[in-house]
Amino acid sequence: MDTALVILAAGKGTRMNSDLPKVLHPIAQAPMLAHAMRAGAAIDPVRTVIVAGHGADQVRAAVQEIDEDAVVVLQREQNGTAHAVDQTRDALAGFSGDIMVLYGDTPFITAGTLSAMTEAREHHDLVVLGFDTADIAARYGRLVLEGDKLLRIVEYKDATDQERAISLCNSGLLVCNSDTLFELIAEVGNENASGEYYLTDIVEHANVRGLSVTAVKCDEAETLGVNSRADLAAADAVFQTRARNSLLEDGVTLLAPETVYLAYDTVIGRDSVIEPNVVFGPDVTIESSVTIRAFSHLEGCHVSRGATIGPFARLRPGAELAENTHIGNFVEIKQANIAEGAKINHLSYIGDADIGEKTNIGAGTITCNYDGVMKHRTVIGANAFIGSDTMLVAPVTLGDGAMTASGSVITKDVEAEAMAVARARQVNKPGFARKLFEILKARKAQQGKG
Ligand code: UD1
Ligand code: CA
Repeated sequence: MDTALVILAAGKGTRMNSDLPKVLHPIAQAPMLAHAMRAGAAIDPVRTVIVAGHGADQVRAAVQEIDEDAVVVLQREQNGTAHAVDQTRDALAGFSGDIMVLYGDTPFITAGTLSAMTEAREHHDLVVLGFDTADIAARYGRLVLEGDKLLRIVEYKDATDQERAISLCNSGLLVCNSDTLFELIAEVGNENASGEYYLTDIVEHANVRGLSVTAVKCDEAETLGVNSRADLAAADAVFQTRARNSLLEDGVTLLAPETVYLAYDTVIGRDSVIEPNVVFGPDVTIESSVTIRAFSHLEGCHVSRGATIGPFARLRPGAELAENTHIGNFVEIKQANIAEGAKINHLSYIGDADIGEKTNIGAGTITCNYDGVMKHRTVIGANAFIGSDTMLVAPVTLGDGAMTASGSVITKDVEAEAMAVARARQVNKPGFARKLFEILKARKAQQGKG
C-alpha cells in the first residue's frame, strides 16, 4: 500500500516567543521539522506534503534543503487541524493510498510506532496514535474507547470532568485511506470551544459510517511536543540521551556521557574515546579508535582511525584528518588535509592547507591564508619540519623534507630538503642588560620620591 506523509506545521508557536517559525527551531542542530520528516521517512512515503502557515517562506526554504521532493502547501489561516489536512487535497490529487498525518512539532516518533500503526491499519479503516499520560491534568484530547473500538476523541477544552479523567490521550497522529480521509474531513464542522475544524472529529464521523476505528499506543516520551523554549531544551536533552546511548551500544566510550553534545548526524566509530565536554556540530565523522580529548569542538570534519584530537582543539568544516594524526591543544584546523601521521600539537591555525605525511608543525605556526580579500593555500610536503612560530604567508609551497627556522615569516616557496630562515639575525650586546636595569631602577627610585 502506498502511503503519503502529511506533516502539519502551520501553527504559530506563540509560546516560542520567536521570529523563527516553531518547526524550524533546531534540536541537535537540525530543524525540528527535519526530525519529524526523518521519523516519517521510516514508512517510506511515496509523497511528503508539509502544511505551512506562519513563516511559510522560511519553512519552504528549509524543506527544500531537507528533501527537495517534499511539497509545501500554504494554510493561510489556521482554522484547525482538519482544515490543515484539507489544504493537501490539491497536492495529493491523483494519489490513492494511505495518508499518515504527523505533526512538525512532535519530532520523536519512532519507526517502530509508525509501523505498529500501519500494521493496525491492515485491519482497521482509521488508526489513531494515543499514549497514557503521567500528568492527568495535561491538556491533550482524550480517547474514548469501548474495548478496541475508538468511539471518539474529545478535546480537553470540550471534555467533561469524567472524560478528563481518562489517561489515554491523543497524540494527533493518524493513518487512513486518502479518499476516506478527505470525505470525513468534509463532514467536520467547527461548533466547539475553539471554533476550529478539529481533525479529531473524523473519528465520530467514521463510526457513523460504520468504519472500524482503533487506537495504537506509544510511550509518552515519543509524543513529546515542543511549545516553548523550555520544551525545546527538554527535547534536545531527550535527543542527546538517545544518541549517547546508541553510541555507547555501538562500542564508543564516552567518559562523561552527559557532557558530550552531539549533532543529529554525528557518526563515531567503534573503540573511539570521547572525553568530557566535547561538542559536535553538524556533519562530523569520526572513524574507529580515535581519541577526542576534553573540551574540543568539531564540525564538518572527518577524522580517520587512530587519530588523537585535543584537548581544546577546534576542527572546522573541511578538516580532513588521515590515520594516526595528532592535533593538540589550542589548534584550529579549517579546509585542510592533514596526511597520515602528521602532528600539529600546540597553538596553531592551519587553514586552506595540505600537510604531508609525518610532517611536524611546530608550536604557534600560522597559515596566513587570508589577504583581506581572498583566501590562499599553503602546501607542505611529507616529512617536513616547521619550526615554532612560523608564519606561512599563502600562497606558498614547501617541498618534502623542508625545514623552517623558528620565528620565520615564509613568503617564498621552499624547495624539498631546504631550510628556510626568514627572520632578523641575532645580535648580542655584552653588558647591555645590566646597564639598562640600572637606568630603569634609578628612574623608578626617582619617581617614588616625587
Ligand atoms: C492537538 C489535538 C489534540 C492532541 C494534541 C496533541 C486537534 C483538534 N487536537 O491539539 O487532540 O491531544 O494535538 O499534541 O487536533 N496545525 C496546523 N494548522 C492549524 C492548526 C494546527 O498546521 O490550523 C498544526 C500545528 O502547527 C501543530 C499541530 O497541527 O503542529 C497541532 O496543532 P495544535 O494547535 O498544537 O493542536 P492542539 O491544540 O495541541
Ligand atoms: Ca500542541
